Amino acid sequence: MAQKTWRVGVAGLGTVGGGLLQFLAERPDFAPAEGRVEVVAVSARSRSRPRTVDISNLAWYDDPVALASAPDVDIFVELIGGSDGPAKAAVETALRLGKPVITANKALLAEHGVELATLAESSGAMLLYEAAVMGGAPAVKMLREAMVGDDVASVSGILNGTCNYILTEMEAGGRAFEDVLSEAQRLGYAEADPTMDVGGFDAAHKVTLLAALAFGCAPSYAAAHVQGINDVELLDIKLAKELGYRIKLVAQASRGPDGVLVRVGPVLAPLDHPLAQANGALNALFIEGTRIGRIFLQGPGAGAGPTAAAVAADIADVMAGGVRPVFQAPAETLRPFAALDPSRSVGKAYIRLLVKDEPGVIAVIAETLAECGVSIDSFLQKPAPDAGGVPIVLTTHATPESVVTDAINRMEKLPAVLERPRLLRIARI
Ligand code: HSE
Repeated sequence: MAQKTWRVGVAGLGTVGGGLLQFLAERPDFAPAEGRVEVVAVSARSRSRPRTVDISNLAWYDDPVALASAPDVDIFVELIGGSDGPAKAAVETALRLGKPVITANKALLAEHGVELATLAESSGAMLLYEAAVMGGAPAVKMLREAMVGDDVASVSGILNGTCNYILTEMEAGGRAFEDVLSEAQRLGYAEADPTMDVGGFDAAHKVTLLAALAFGCAPSYAAAHVQGINDVELLDIKLAKELGYRIKLVAQASRGPDGVLVRVGPVLAPLDHPLAQANGALNALFIEGTRIGRIFLQGPGAGAGPTAAAVAADIADVMAGGVRPVFQAPAETLRPFAALDPSRSVGKAYIRLLVKDEPGVIAVIAETLAECGVSIDSFLQKPAPDAGGVPIVLTTHATPESVVTDAINRMEKLPAVLERPRLLRIARI
């Protein structure tokens, strides 16, 4: 029997789009049980830009919305990016027509997930997004399919390859932030606007999707607490290492009896912990299942090859047929998102101060911490002749975050403290 050929339209020919076209040109029969795949039409910002793949034989659309509605396109792949604008308009168009959509667009789904899931479910179209989270590592499938028989309590991990690459290279080579960021852009890890990466927003989009898949709540990007790596200095990376930790940008979503906490921020992980050992552009994720227990998934979170492979896996799912809810449950039954307050979380903290080098300073700091009820776990003072003061670093025992913030505010006002103390969380693992 002749195999069915599935005709694919691809909007967006950046790193992932280019990788997908190359893969499908070489391996149109990568899912032999389901049929063949042929890219028939493309859309991008510039038709003439030099590319590693030949697009001269493909139909060209200036407008991705027109591509999404082209009658000879069976599957619409959206790789434009951005939470609104052409990407949203094109995805909506395809879904309204009942056409399967595959996207790597975490911003679009994290910010308009319920609306798009409602549209997909009402027209019976598949909306798949494996490539949106953790690039080539199948985090979405794992939560949506393999873990439906469990109640997930939390997900936490490294979800942004660019930040992980930057932190790794800063530590390994003592290199400056900006220098490593440019390299991450050249390697195709970074978003078109790298603020999305280094500001923590990309990881927040991704963990918002994981929370919706894990807990059956409506994706609510606006409820995420987000801090990026912009303020992480080489000095913190070095001092953390002396204390036995590595700084990672960690995205977490956890479920409590009263709601869900979603947050992204730099965290100190013990050097021997799997998160501390996931370096370069790798992503890593812990999923805590109530019955299954703890699962660890690690893989390349960015880059053309791995991300295109995730898109291809979604194409194979469309070819195989069957429709699943876009998140854990049908859109209308997703629970409203009840956001928990992070200041009530309890954990250890890393505090770095720059203080005057004079008698009695340590005593005043210790006294302030004692008055606030913060107990010191370790303490390190580094002679630094050029720093205009002495950096001291301390770690605390587990303390409510609101209490640590209060102590930081009080210490900042001490005459001997020369700048606002830096605060980083220590991973609760
Ligand atoms: N900019 C993203 C990252 C690409 O660095 O992880 C993959 O989503």
